[in-house]
Amino acid sequence: MIRQCSKCRVPLQQSVRAYSVVPPPRDAEEKEMLHRILRVDHAGEYGANRIYAGQMAVLGRSRTGPMIQEMWDQEKKHLKKFSEILAENRVRPTALLPLWNVAGFVLGASTALLGKEGAMACTVAVEESIAEHYNSQIRVLMERDPERFTELLLLIKEFRDDEMEHHDTGLEHDAESVPGYWLLKNAIQLGCKAAIYVSQRV
Ligand SMILES: [Fe+2]
Ligand SMILES: [Fe+2]
Repeated sequence: MIRQCSKCRVPLQQSVRAYSVVPPPRDAEEKEMLHRILRVDHAGEYGANRIYAGQMAVLGRSRTGPMIQEMWDQEKKHLKKFSEILAENRVRPTALLPLWNVAGFVLGASTALLGKEGAMACTVAVEESIAEHYNSQIRVLMERDPERFTELLLLIKEFRDDEMEHHDTGLEHDAESVPGYWLLKNAIQLGCKAAIYVSQRV
């Protein structure tokens, strides 16, 4: 029997999917690709959480604290989601989590020691890198099969939009006025690129 909405009698679509976000891979190559995507995204969100933790350790009691906390709370949501997806799909997390644990915190705390502007510059640099990274994943999945990857695409787009908001928040709160902004931003983004590269593979 087809289930109907109790109010409007419209037939409810029965879900035929046995997965929540990631469809079962078609072959070994696709499995490898999906695992890389999920592993690096989980690592990125983990690192982002540690960066905001470092920022809060320094600026938590300042006027900027609540704003950083708000962004951190969103990162916690992102990380939780990717942790669930990793478990559900039996994807092993990167072996480098202990490194990102320390490196993320140190990056967050050290830039926050430059003041609010330093923390915001770090946020702009990192969030721009993550958003670009999500965009490149969106392109890959769209090219492969936009329909089969609908849920994963929706999730990545939602998170990408959150990261862009964090990026804009950083700019709105004087990121660019930290001395050596461009140097700092480029250095951090170089680090992000390296972190993304190795977290897909290790
Ligand atoms: Fe995030
Ligand atoms: Fe973010």
